[in-house]
Amino acid sequence: MRHLSAKDAKPPLRASLLPTGLKDGSVTRYKNSSARSPYRLNLHYPRPKGALNCGLLTNVRGAPIKNAIILAATLLTLTQAQELEIFSWWAGDEGPPLAVLVDLFEAQNPGTVVINATIAGGSGVNARSVLKARLSGGDPPDAFQVHAGREIDSWVAAGPLEDLSSLFADEGWNEVFPKDLLELIRTGGGTWSVPVNVHRSNVMWFVPAKLKTWGVTAPTTWDEFLTVCPTLQERGVTPLVVAEPWTQGHLWESVALAVLGPEDYEALWSGRLPFSSPEAVAVWRTFGRILACTNDDAAGLSWQGATDRVVGGEAAFNIMGDWAAGYLTTTLGLEPGTGFGWAASPGTDGTFMLLADAFSLPVGAPNRDAALAWLRMVGSREGQDTFNPPKGSISPRLDSDLGPYTAYARSAYSDYTEDRQVGSLVHGAAANEVFTSGFAEVLEGYLSSGSAAQAGAAAQALAERSGIGAD
Ligand code: GAL
Repeated sequence: MRHLSAKDAKPPLRASLLPTGLKDGSVTRYKNSSARSPYRLNLHYPRPKGALNCGLLTNVRGAPIKNAIILAATLLTLTQAQELEIFSWWAGDEGPPLAVLVDLFEAQNPGTVVINATIAGGSGVNARSVLKARLSGGDPPDAFQVHAGREIDSWVAAGPLEDLSSLFADEGWNEVFPKDLLELIRTGGGTWSVPVNVHRSNVMWFVPAKLKTWGVTAPTTWDEFLTVCPTLQERGVTPLVVAEPWTQGHLWESVALAVLGPEDYEALWSGRLPFSSPEAVAVWRTFGRILACTNDDAAGLSWQGATDRVVGGEAAFNIMGDWAAGYLTTTLGLEPGTGFGWAASPGTDGTFMLLADAFSLPVGAPNRDAALAWLRMVGSREGQDTFNPPKGSISPRLDSDLGPYTAYARSAYSDYTEDRQVGSLVHGAAANEVFTSGFAEVLEGYLSSGSAAQAGAAAQALAERSGIGAD
C-alpha cells in the first residue's frame, strides 16, 4: 500500500525514495512516523523476488548484495505492478480502518499495489475541492470516497461517474442492501456508489466516571443540558466541546433534529418547511444558547482533539458521529461503556441520523478493472465486516455478522434497524453539495452576527439557489 498526499496524488519520483527496511512479504520504502501527520507517504510494495527470507539481502556466498541491485529489483517490481489509486480523507487517526481494508484487497489481489491518496480534513472538507479539481481536470483517481445521498448529485454532474447498476445486479447487492440505502445512492436512473458503512451522526459522547465525579447525568434534552451547563462551568469543565467549523455544523444538525422533530427536519430538505419559518429560525436560537456553553478555541481543534478533551475530563460532552467510537476504541484503546459512554444527542432519541461512506468509479479511471475489484470487495460481507469494526460504523448489509463488532456498534445496529431514519446534512445525505458547502458560510455568518433571523433568511436563500425542494 502506498499513501500519497494531495501533492503526490500522482506517483512520486520513485527512484528518489530508498528502502528503509524489509518486512515479511513487503518492502516499506518510506514512512512518515508521525501518526498525526495529515499527509502520509507510506509506500508499501510486494517484496521483490530474491528478497524472500532475508533480513539483509545476501548473495549465494552470503555476501551482502549492493544497494543498487536491491533498488533495481524493487524498481523492476514497481514498474511491473498493477496499480489502483483510491482517494479519500481517511488520513492520520482515520487511517487504520482503511489500511485494514487495503490489506485485505492486496491479499485478495496479489500483484496490485494500492496507491492510498488521502487528503486530511474531517468530513472531507479539504478532499472535496481537490477531488473536484482532479475530476474536472481529467485526472481522476481509480475510485474515490463519497457520501451516499444527495451529495452524489454534484459528482454525477462533475464526473461523469460510471453507473454501477450492473455491478449491483451481478453481486446480488439489490437484495443485500436495505432499500432506503439503495435509494440514497441512486439518482437519475443510475446507481453511483458502493456503500461501505453506515455511521450515525446524532450521538453524544461522555465518560461515565467523570460525570459521576461532577454529579451530573447525560442530558436527554437540550433544556436539561442548559440546566447542567452552569454547574459544569463552575467546576471549570467545558460543558460541551466543539471543534473546527464543520463540527459546529454537525452540532447544528442534531440541534435542528431535536428542535424540529424528524418530520419537520425532513421537511427542510424537501422544501416543505422554509428555513426562514419561525420553526426553523428557532433552531438557531437554541443553537446559540448551546454555543454559550462551549469552548472558545474551537477553530483550531480537530474532532479528535475535541474527543480527547472529553476523555481527559476537560469537557463533559461532545456531539460527534460514531467515527468517534472508532477513534476511542481503535486509537485510544478504550472500552465502550466504561472508558466512554454514549447516548442519542439530546432530544433525538428514537431517531437515527444516518450517513454512509461509499466509493464511486469515475469514467476514465486509469485502472478500471482494479477499481471494479476494489468496489466488489468494498461491498462484500467480508470487506464490510473487516472495515467497520475498527471504524466505529456498522455494515448496512442485511447479512452482516455482528460478531466482530464492539458493544457500541451493536447498540448502533439495533437503533439503525428500529429507529426512524433521517439524513445528515453535513455528511452528504440530506442535501446536495452546493447547499452543504454554502451552509458552512451561513453558519459562519451566524457566528459573527448572532442573528437567528438573518441565519434563517440566508439559509432559505441558499436553499433556493441550490434547488432544495425543486424536485
Ligand atoms: C464523515 C465520514 C466519516 C468520517 C468523518 C470524519 O463525513 O463519513 O467516515 O471520516 O467524516 O472525518
